[in-house]
Amino acid sequence: MNTHTWKCAIFIFALATYCSDALADGSASDEIAKYREMISDGNPAEFDEMRGEDLWKKPSGPNKTSMQKCELGKGEGIVKGAYAELPRYFPDTDRVQDLESRLLTCMTTLQGIPEKDITSKPFGNENYKPDIESYVAYVVGQSKGVKMNVPLKHPKEKEAYEIGKRIFSYRAGPYDFACTTCHGQDNLRIRMQDLPNFNNKKDSQAAYVSWPAYRVSQGLFRSFQWRLNDCFRQQRFPEPEYASEMTIALAMFMATNANDAIYAGPGLKR
Ligand code: HEC
Repeated sequence: MNTHTWKCAIFIFALATYCSDALADGSASDEIAKYREMISDGNPAEFDEMRGEDLWKKPSGPNKTSMQKCELGKGEGIVKGAYAELPRYFPDTDRVQDLESRLLTCMTTLQGIPEKDITSKPFGNENYKPDIESYVAYVVGQSKGVKMNVPLKHPKEKEAYEIGKRIFSYRAGPYDFACTTCHGQDNLRIRMQDLPNFNNKKDSQAAYVSWPAYRVSQGLFRSFQWRLNDCFRQQRFPEPEYASEMTIALAMFMATNANDAIYAGPGLKR
């Protein structure tokens, strides 16, 4: 058996053990901690990282160009450590961009792919894996072990942070929820899920550096834009536009609050 087959076998075993344990007593977070330990040297997100790396180097789109010239903020073609400094201000687009909005820029300008083709279905399911998601897996994996160092110097970076901070506690929708309703106190739980308190530096850091992540319950790799989307849904808000200014501002707020923590993604979630 080769390494992949082994990893796959270990994964399936761990998953089976996890699922039978989860049916027994015990909090979901304890079970997830156990599960994580079992497969600590093999997160299935690695397959997405590998797929992303291959795609990154492959000429594609109408321009038959690879992503290797994509500028992620540290210089053309530099992927290593780039995610730990995102979101940030980019002079060429004159705006603050998170990873996914920056990948959109590269895919549209370098590869010539129409933006709507990407933003109309940016999240995968069991039958479909968008390239942008695999790029995300590859790029974030290249920041594993790097200290979060999101710049907050340019006026537009400061502005995005302030907007993100305000949105985070903005109450609206049918239940008058804000992000802080679920993420503004210690030890809150919904359906056995521990909710991170983003007013607490440690919680904010731990949550942010563990995303994007492979979600065991869905068997899929999920990006940070997906995470935000899902919480907008939980908040009973309309679905935000993919990589819109508001989502980038929220990412800026959360990423900056995670500064100085060691980036540990792609993570592994229930
Ligand atoms: C109704 C409650 C609720 C609201 C409101 C809510 N969330 Fe969440 N959030 C959750 C739950 C539940 C989870 C854990 C989900 C899971 O594990 O499946 C979560 C998880 C997260 C995570 C990942 C944490 C981790 O450690 O993995 C982030 C980041 C996040 N939310 C951001 C936000 C933002 C930003 C907002 C506001 C736009 C928001 N949430 C609003 C319930 C909520």
